Amino acid sequence: MKSRETIVGGNWKMNTTLAGAPVLAEGVARAVPGGVSVAVFPPFPFLLPVRDALARAGAAGRVALGAQDAYFEPKGAFTGEVSLDMLRECGVTLVLAGHSERRHVLGESDELVGRKASAILAAGMRCVLCIGETLAERESGRTQGVNERQLRAGLRGVGPSNAERLVIAYEPVWAIGTGKAATPTDAREAHGHIRSVLGELLGGTAAERTPIMYGGSVTAANAASLMAQPDVDGALVGGASLKVDEFSAICAAAAG
Ligand code: 13P
Repeated sequence: MKSRETIVGGNWKMNTTLAGAPVLAEGVARAVPGGVSVAVFPPFPFLLPVRDALARAGAAGRVALGAQDAYFEPKGAFTGEVSLDMLRECGVTLVLAGHSERRHVLGESDELVGRKASAILAAGMRCVLCIGETLAERESGRTQGVNERQLRAGLRGVGPSNAERLVIAYEPVWAIGTGKAATPTDAREAHGHIRSVLGELLGGTAAERTPIMYGGSVTAANAASLMAQPDVDGALVGGASLKVDEFSAICAAAAG
């Protein structure tokens, strides 16, 4: 049993429907085991129906409601963006910052991700800072360098005092949605390095306490071997989080 919190998140990305999202949430709420923190990250328009479905299933405190993104400004002329106060009003308690698709499809910079991470923590919410290298970066031996750069920029406004609500998700870009997960050895090496950089940036106590999730083609079949690695403290799950049985089996693997 690990001393750190184990956390599994279902990132639904731009999937589900108004009718299907609450059904999925209720299914998850009924199926997930204890002994692991669980969160779901529905698309913005489905946050409220999912919140209500979790409450109906008696899981309001047990399955946390997450948002896939947020803007760092509190309000104003930012067409299309969503503020942290708005998300809080919808019952959101944790927010992703810098998901690979935000960085590589939507063009978010390290600096923007850092501003978002600081704002999420300052708003009193949990921040899941996502980092990870592309295939080209891995093949040219830059995995550690990229992770370190993204951590330094992402945590610029974070120190030992607000790191309490921080979670890191290591999601190698080449493993996301490809069916080609990192091997347990790849994950162990990357997570060990990430924890040592966290130690430099935040101090040893905060680094030891911060959960580091792995994401990228996690399934019920590979979850246990990934999460058996010493610094792998859970999973951020995309495709497999859309199926109740698969997602709850991953949660059960994380619970040990
Ligand atoms: P997949 O599990 O579909 O590879 O997606 C991972 C991910 O991006 C979770 O945030």
